[in-house]
Amino acid sequence: MLEFSKAASRLDQVSPSGLRAFFDLGAQLAAKGVDVISLGLGDLDLPLPKIIEKALISAIKQGCIRYTSNKGIPELRLAIAERYNDTFGLKYAWDEEVLVTVGALEGLLDIMLGLLNPGDRVLIQEPAFGYFQHQATLAGAEVEQIPLTPRFDLDVDRFAEALSQRKTRMIVINSPCNPTGSIASRSKVLKLVELARDHGCLVVSDEAYEFLRYDGKAHTCAAEACQDNVIIVNSFSKAFIMTGLRLGYVVAPAALLKPIAQIHQYNTACAAAPIQEAAAVALRDSKAMNAFIKRNLRVLNERRKTAIEHFVKIPGLTLPYKPLGAFYLFPNCKGTGLNGYDFATKVLNEAGVIVIPGDNFGSSFSDYIRISYSSAPSSRLLEAASRIKHLAGH
Ligand SMILES: Cc1ncc(COP(=O)(O)O)c(C=O)c1O
Repeated sequence: MLEFSKAASRLDQVSPSGLRAFFDLGAQLAAKGVDVISLGLGDLDLPLPKIIEKALISAIKQGCIRYTSNKGIPELRLAIAERYNDTFGLKYAWDEEVLVTVGALEGLLDIMLGLLNPGDRVLIQEPAFGYFQHQATLAGAEVEQIPLTPRFDLDVDRFAEALSQRKTRMIVINSPCNPTGSIASRSKVLKLVELARDHGCLVVSDEAYEFLRYDGKAHTCAAEACQDNVIIVNSFSKAFIMTGLRLGYVVAPAALLKPIAQIHQYNTACAAAPIQEAAAVALRDSKAMNAFIKRNLRVLNERRKTAIEHFVKIPGLTLPYKPLGAFYLFPNCKGTGLNGYDFATKVLNEAGVIVIPGDNFGSSFSDYIRISYSSAPSSRLLEAASRIKHLAGH
């Protein structure tokens, strides 16, 4: 019997998602009647843009329910390519250099499976969204984590040192960053891409939080340095409140996109047709979408300020930098006498608040926790901070 249930060995070094574990524990408590405040997942509680809702319903009513081209409907690919070309002065061909995926996550896995061979070396910034490491490992790659600076910027010197030591196939970066909320400085992003190019190394730049920036911070698209070795991953999840609709995309030079699209073909065939239609309508109306994003940013910024102000008042939590993007805080909790896992467990069991242990984002960050303010209005953030503050021992 045991033989039947044996998992493939490629899973030996890949642990189940720790984020989801806390999410599930929170759901169990909520089912018992506990008033759980979830600061766990990065999942906005704001409504879908009306323009997308209308286009989605209309697409379904018009019978837009069949398979699409593997790479995605032309209107959407065209709108995506045009946005990059217009906004960042790039030169992407919509038909050969854009792939629409089932969320950024599918795009990331397609990249790893399409471009990595077993034993290939992959450098990933640390801390980082844990899926990068697990997906590269699933592709058989050997992952090394390269720490960000103490204020969570890219450390180009450390990447340079690592690149000089051994042949490297791929670097993975993410700005605005999950879990830190930091934004990499423009000069460092551009320098890193050029450095990687000089070493014959690819850069995967996860820009899923591109639109979520505060205090006038600008976004740098990694391909601005050089398109040749850059693969951009982006998503409709965060900016357009579409996490459950699952739509993302990969933009890359044709020769790189080809193997990525081949994995996508065998994996999912295509993203859901009506959702692609709705996203194309939204991207074409940039005025409406910009206004929508601006409104949401106002809401998120208010939450960000509340979270920064009140969580740092909790004895033992320190936040040595100000997050300027995404919707996370990544404080150190060492001063509480507990590591991130024990702190998160205590906070969940005794205060009914879900936060995520920092070691999900890098083994060096076991004394940290990630707090997401994406799905809790300011009043709930205040309540969560106050519950944690009043826990025994704090
Ligand atoms: C950095 C990063 N990339 C990708 C994703 C997943 O995006 P999607 O919902 O488009 O799969 C997330 C989700 O939290 C993320 O934080």
